[in-house]
Amino acid sequence: MPYQILTDSALPPEMEEMLAGICEVHVWDLTEDDPILPSIEGFITYGHPVVLGSHMDKMPNLRCLSNFGVGVDHINLEDARARSLPVGFTPGFVNGVTADMAFAMLMTIGRNIIQGWRHAHGPDYLAYDANILHGHEVYGSTLGIIGMGRVGREIARRASGFDMTVLYHNRNPSPHAAGLNASYRSLEALLDEADFVVLSVPMSPQTRHLIGAVQLARMKETAYLVNVARGGVVDHVALVDALQRNLIAGAIMDVTDPEPLPRDHPLLRLDNCVILPHLGSATYQSRFRMSRRTVDNLLAGLRGQEMPSRAA
Ligand code: DGY
Repeated sequence: MPYQILTDSALPPEMEEMLAGICEVHVWDLTEDDPILPSIEGFITYGHPVVLGSHMDKMPNLRCLSNFGVGVDHINLEDARARSLPVGFTPGFVNGVTADMAFAMLMTIGRNIIQGWRHAHGPDYLAYDANILHGHEVYGSTLGIIGMGRVGREIARRASGFDMTVLYHNRNPSPHAAGLNASYRSLEALLDEADFVVLSVPMSPQTRHLIGAVQLARMKETAYLVNVARGGVVDHVALVDALQRNLIAGAIMDVTDPEPLPRDHPLLRLDNCVILPHLGSATYQSRFRMSRRTVDNLLAGLRGQEMPSRAA
């Protein structure tokens, strides 16, 4: 008998292939009275669905959850622990790609790539004009990394190729930072000094709205905010205000709260803001590695074995 598996949205073909013959996959209708829930033995959280104890209680045969991604803030881990349900995740598979993305974003916002693309594709581009779309230099500038975990360290490594001065803020100074030529700062000092502030902290009650009105007001008028963490780390009301008043030069966010933003959200209308659709780990290679680890965690959990990567 194949294992009965739940997922919140259609799985990619490679993951379906990995599960073929071992699991029967059902797509959850995201309600607590979906009739499929009582038969479910394993749950793949693919598109960041909110999963609470009340959902778990509707699945008396549930043995494990396996999350596609490293961020598990959408799953109530305490509730899972209280029910002895192991939760798998995919750390280590997204660090390099997310750091690449942070750099792509930093250069996009610093060098006006989106505005340049629009101009070059539009009817007004009839002659080269040296006076338009001046940006700020990335090489030689000061990078402030908030969150010196696995992704933050990869960002710092890339910064050395751009001759950047690297500052970082973390709950505690990181033992890895010296090798990366990165200097520890308080959050306030980092915001005062950095030309590019990159957020790479996990989402938690402690990091919710870590960047709000006070923090944005501390940043230089010429500085940019780059978010590859989670949308909830930034107070969006404060960000709209700061961007409207040009308190900072711009912001680029791969993540928002909520995600996606309502189509009429002011952040989508501002010229000094770029919103991306959560592309941090979206490469063929990374997605494949994430799928493999998600399936390996799931199968281990179903078989009562230790998961290769367990979050709770
Ligand atoms: C992660 O790994 O958490 C990414 O945000 C993709 O889910």
